[in-house]
Amino acid sequence: MAVPSSGARKPVAGALGRGYSRRVPDALFAHHRLAPIYDAFGGARDDLTAYLDIADELDAHRVLDIGCGTGCLALLLAERGRTVIGVDPAEASLEVAKAKDRTGRITWIHGDAATLPALGADVAVMTGNVAQVFLTDDDWTQTLQGIHAALRSRGYFVFETRRPERRGWEDWVAETAPVNLDVPGIGLVEQLSFEVTEVSLPFVSFRYIYRFASDGVVVTSDSTLRFRDRDEVEASLLAAGYRVLDVRDAPDRPGREFVFVAERTT
Ligand SMILES: C[S@@+](CC[C@H](N)C(=O)[O-])C[C@H]1O[C@@H](n2cnc3c(N)ncnc32)[C@H](O)[C@@H]1O
Repeated sequence: MAVPSSGARKPVAGALGRGYSRRVPDALFAHHRLAPIYDAFGGARDDLTAYLDIADELDAHRVLDIGCGTGCLALLLAERGRTVIGVDPAEASLEVAKAKDRTGRITWIHGDAATLPALGADVAVMTGNVAQVFLTDDDWTQTLQGIHAALRSRGYFVFETRRPERRGWEDWVAETAPVNLDVPGIGLVEQLSFEVTEVSLPFVSFRYIYRFASDGVVVTSDSTLRFRDRDEVEASLLAAGYRVLDVRDAPDRPGREFVFVAERTT
């Protein structure tokens, strides 16, 4: 199933006045050389267990994984017998996800969270801090509306976002040593550098540079994330037609994340 992407939007003003447009996924997810190494460099996915538990808790049969990327959560949910739909605008990541979905049980949508059709999902989830890729207020509002439309009546929306007061980017600055990995089927890949390029709150920008030993190709990925505080997220959810049922800690990252559990009010 294909849902058209809404395409590039207006540049973000102020600190991000570099012509950065939202709705164009970062190279980290969309570049054909970088998407296949995302899982290897991402390491163990201890963060996903909490979402599997929440799917149980909410008795979710039909789960929508928004910004599913390479499909790590979607596959785990499908293995547990749930009907799963994964959506992402980064085609290269979806290709990786589809290759892992050997039984073809999952419906993959090449699309954007803001333009989802009515999917009747019991639960929509966003892992990996997808919520932070939506940079402007308009982007975020349209995303919340798109997810609202994709949920069934009284469906749930569960997602995480990093707590701004924790100032996690200050830890990232200390994690800049090169990393070399031998990625199966790809060969040696060097993460040459990871650099926080700009902190202009609520925006934080960073850059990864990778080198592929097989052919010496170097690929750079620039990203910007927005850090929203709890009150801001709660207010935006209420305005978009959700009720906040709970705000939790991420068990694998105590004190660092908010995990919002919201419900469509209609
Ligand atoms: C950090 S990755 C997380 C991927 C996955 N959820 C995980 O936990 O591994 C962020 C994902 O959000 C996706 N994304 C970016 N813009 C999006 C949009 N407008 N709608 C839906 N997903 C989007 C990216 O393509 C990328 O796959």
